[in-house]
Amino acid sequence: MCGIVGYIGSKKAKPILINGLLRLEYRGYDSAGISVIEGTSISTFKNKGRIKNLMDVPGINDLSGKIGIGHTRWATHGKPSSTNSHPHLDNENKISVVHNGIIENYSEIKDFLIKNGYKFLSETDTEVIPNLISYNLKQDKQNDALKLLRAIKKTCDALKGSFAIEVISSILPNNIIVVRKDSPLVIGKGENENYISSDIPAILSFTKDFYLLNDFEYAVLSENDIKFYNSELSPIEKQVKSITWDATAAEKDGFEDFMLKEIYEQPKSIRETIGSRIQKNSNCVIDDLLITKEYLSSVNKIFLVACGTAMHAGLASKPIFEKLCKIPVEVDVASEFRYRDPLLDDKTLCIFISQSGETADTIAALKLAKTHGSKTIAISNVIGSSITREADYSLYTHAGPEIAVASTKAYTSQIILLDIMAIYFSEILNICSSEEINSIKQEILDLPAKLEAVLKNTDKIKTFAKNVYKEKDIFFLGRGTDYAVALEGSLKLKEISYIHSEAYSAGELKHGPIALIENGVTVISIITNPVTAPKIASNIEEVITRGAKTFVITNQNLENSNFDELISIPNINPLISPILSVIPMQLFAYYISKEKGLDVDKPRNLAKSVTVE
Ligand code: G6P
Repeated sequence: MCGIVGYIGSKKAKPILINGLLRLEYRGYDSAGISVIEGTSISTFKNKGRIKNLMDVPGINDLSGKIGIGHTRWATHGKPSSTNSHPHLDNENKISVVHNGIIENYSEIKDFLIKNGYKFLSETDTEVIPNLISYNLKQDKQNDALKLLRAIKKTCDALKGSFAIEVISSILPNNIIVVRKDSPLVIGKGENENYISSDIPAILSFTKDFYLLNDFEYAVLSENDIKFYNSELSPIEKQVKSITWDATAAEKDGFEDFMLKEIYEQPKSIRETIGSRIQKNSNCVIDDLLITKEYLSSVNKIFLVACGTAMHAGLASKPIFEKLCKIPVEVDVASEFRYRDPLLDDKTLCIFISQSGETADTIAALKLAKTHGSKTIAISNVIGSSITREADYSLYTHAGPEIAVASTKAYTSQIILLDIMAIYFSEILNICSSEEINSIKQEILDLPAKLEAVLKNTDKIKTFAKNVYKEKDIFFLGRGTDYAVALEGSLKLKEISYIHSEAYSAGELKHGPIALIENGVTVISIITNPVTAPKIASNIEEVITRGAKTFVITNQNLENSNFDELISIPNINPLISPILSVIPMQLFAYYISKEKGLDVDKPRNLAKSVTVE
């Protein structure tokens, strides 16, 4: 949430900052701003709304400074407004700060500063930072090059909460100083120029070489150099990491929206996630995961913990773990897990799933599991993300950058990686027949071609979306893994089309929800399991009798039923079917959003990376 960028080098900073902010807009888009050092003073421009509004602010195009910072906001403290947008300055306009995160003790600090004569213009938590830096500067009687850095450190030591902070100041006009704690920040190294960003894709077109900061590490950037310091301000060395992602992967590539591009990328992203982890006639290989038979035999529970769509990926994978590994699995929402005192010890294996690797609740849940001696595995799409630096083991989905706020290809890649992990564990435990394991492996290898087939056949989904886009409520039904997909289909619809929807386990319909079914209500069902197919088909008949419009996604032979629309998908083992059956759900939500003329990639009130609790 909130995106921050910075530039220091020989080029004009403003176009580079705007370019980075446009790419970070998915992290928040209610207001934006930049500060640039012009000669010896700081010029700041802000505006409410999207980055394009900032670009229209009179005078912004006259900026010629080569050092600057920028921010795109997702409001926490204080409504979206020009005054509340970042950067925030101290009372003397000498220190400009952008911040991603939340300062939990800001009101205490604000009171202290007000008592010391400081005035506040905004309702934000952030404004205390430049003013506290200013206060600390005044307390420091030493006059040397590290004076500003010391004041920033003293300020950060007083802050409670999370922050990624960039500071520029007219008293140190040739530098940018950055620091982070529990919020993402990367530094891109260029030739005679350096960049700062909340994430790698935003500055990938400028550099492929990055430094990752740990909590309470400071960096002082100049045009030709970056100096790193630890929490006590002792100089430290950091290794540069080179990223292999292609910058064009973060472009729309001819698609109308990132979401549609990412939906269509799924055959490729699934292939990338499978990589060489599954091979015919040999055991699965998961590099970097050192799990022994002795350890796995001692595990009495697996927790899959995540938020949002990543949590749904956990739900979709629970059955395959239980079936192939015979270990009970609990799927938890990270924000619940971390406060519910879960039963954890060295016999519980905890797997944390996070596309961004920066979700505050998921990271906190992982830290909690570690304190109880549980082994932790992180599944993420972002190399070097915070969660991967905390976990005992980190596995990457390799789905490529996902830009649309509503997650699609990251979800399917998370499921496939979890499925492969379940097979890998099962092979270590040696508890399933090789026929069973080999047949699932073959199905996984066949998946990309099946996804391509589903993606070629979208006309019926488009037409159905056209017919129902004005609905106020839509219901989703499924059983087993199909229920997990129903939940994800319902979430996608809510996220990008703002239609109220609910997902139910079809067997629960009679226990209440059927009271909501009346003439014209839309019910979408997913059926991929031959065992429960006749049962759910009967449940659908029950809603048809009560006047519902029905849309069914299935690979079962249900052609003669009374459904209004039926989408056939290829045959597939129900244990891995979510990867296939979710595609029509994603497209359905997408086409409805388009019919309604909404911004598919940046739905209201949402952010891609939720770095606050
Ligand atoms: C936000 C996003 C969702 C995402 C969830 C978890 O709510 O809008 O798309 O599923 O965060 O994000 P993570 O990066 O941890 O997978």
